[in-house]
Amino acid sequence: MIGSSLAAIAAPTASAGLENLVGNGIQIGYLISACLFFVGIKRLGSPATARQGNTISSVAMLLAIVVTLLDFQVVNYVTILGCIAIGSAIGAVMAQRVEMTAMPQLVGLFNGLGGAASALVAIGELWRHFGTSDVPDTGSMVSILLGVLIGGVTLSGSLIAFAKLQGTLPGAPMTFPFQQAFNAALLVSFLVGSGLLLTDSLNQSMFLGTIAISLVLGVMFVLPIGGGDMPVVISLLNSLSGLAASAAGFVVGNSMLIIAGALVGASGIILTVIMCKGMNRSLTNVLFAAFGSGETGGATAGASGGGVQKPVKTVDPEEGAMMLGYARSVVIVPGYGMAVAQAQHAVRELSDQLDRLGVEVRYAIHPVAGRMPGHMNVLLAEANVPYDRLYDMEDINPQFEQTDVALVIGANDVVNPAARTAKDSPIYGMPILEADRAKHTIVIKRSLGTGFAGVQNELFFGDKTMMMFGSAKDMLSKLVSEVKEL
Ligand code: TAP
Repeated sequence: MIGSSLAAIAAPTASAGLENLVGNGIQIGYLISACLFFVGIKRLGSPATARQGNTISSVAMLLAIVVTLLDFQVVNYVTILGCIAIGSAIGAVMAQRVEMTAMPQLVGLFNGLGGAASALVAIGELWRHFGTSDVPDTGSMVSILLGVLIGGVTLSGSLIAFAKLQGTLPGAPMTFPFQQAFNAALLVSFLVGSGLLLTDSLNQSMFLGTIAISLVLGVMFVLPIGGGDMPVVISLLNSLSGLAASAAGFVVGNSMLIIAGALVGASGIILTVIMCKGMNRSLTNVLFAAFGSGETGGATAGASGGGVQKPVKTVDPEEGAMMLGYARSVVIVPGYGMAVAQAQHAVRELSDQLDRLGVEVRYAIHPVAGRMPGHMNVLLAEANVPYDRLYDMEDINPQFEQTDVALVIGANDVVNPAARTAKDSPIYGMPILEADRAKHTIVIKRSLGTGFAGVQNELFFGDKTMMMFGSAKDMLSKLVSEVKEL
């Protein structure tokens, strides 16, 4: 009798003790995971340590997931593990199949899904109160509404960004009269709806209304932005998806989600600012000036450069190979055209051949060359170009004057001297790679057409410049064959 009473007392005490132990273990797991995230993000800051940073961050995420699954509050493992398996399989296939040039839209899609997940957590949290008399407190309600707003904007905004980059929607800015006033009215409606929900939390139709408004706001936010500016928008949406996750963390009281979301939010906004600086534009200019049509402009401009009739010097691969092979130093400047042509492996081959001839080969990397952050670094890493050959703009610019040949491959705006000299140019003030200061400059592109900014490039008509017209991959393959003969 006494024994069974003691057992009855001891059983809940033992289970409470186990819960405490697991609870503490979960918090320690989260702490380790958060520290690993910090280290991982720090390591992502340099190409030499980026792979390691990626692995460390992935381990941190795995740890966070495993630790969360140990929580006593989990009610159904089968659904969770089934969803993880399906999601992981889809993600793995997409990551394997995606072309490097389609990476921005894939990242955009992932951001959108992150926003959707956070919004669904927030929606689910209020939904379970409907039909009951249990009303969430004001703090929870604010977190729920923030999750809905940021998550909804991130989801629909990312889908529009994806469609613009994919070419499903036109890349040109889509504007209409009183657009800003309309957007402001939407935001005010959301705030009014939220205010009402704070006093009457279980008003289902009002809640559905705020969800709808947040989705429309995301669409309206991205439509007026040109396709070419989408990478900046995607980086901003990435930051928003982090904030949405943080809001979801507050909704479900999960510290790891709050920390991880804040890290994504902060790193996304830092990246956005770096990109804007690289283009010498403010974030407001990117978001509201409807800049860029989303076309590179080159394909249709023709060798006359869209009407500009000035003489240019040309060079064929045979002569180009002699210039490169007999140079002491060559600086390669890759740009968007190299990415489009997928010419990174041919670049590496050329550089190997020049190495064989004892030529010093370096690569000059502009922070916004291409169409996404780190675009050139990723492509050159894929072709196994050693990291120590890659030079940032500040380090390589003083070296151009002593460089025998600057080889510009599918780059345009990032080497346009107008950024230094032409005050009326849209790219005036944008920091550039000073390839025009080299002893000779060879430019490989298909025509004299403009780049993303749509401005003509004086470099092509310079005394020391020689144009090699053709697609980057073809021209580089021909150069490689010619250099092999030297
Ligand atoms: P762009 O100025 O866009 O010029 C790329 C050039 O590549 C075009 O003029 C085009 O000329 C050439 N090209 C296209 N296909 C080619 C092919 N198959 N073979 C050879 N050349 C080809 O590129 P950039 O110098 O890298 O500058 C990047 C621009 O994008 C900057 O204005 C930047 O502000 C903007 N931007 C960048 C980012 C990020 S994060 N990277 C984000 C938003 C905007 P042809 O047609 O004559 O061949």
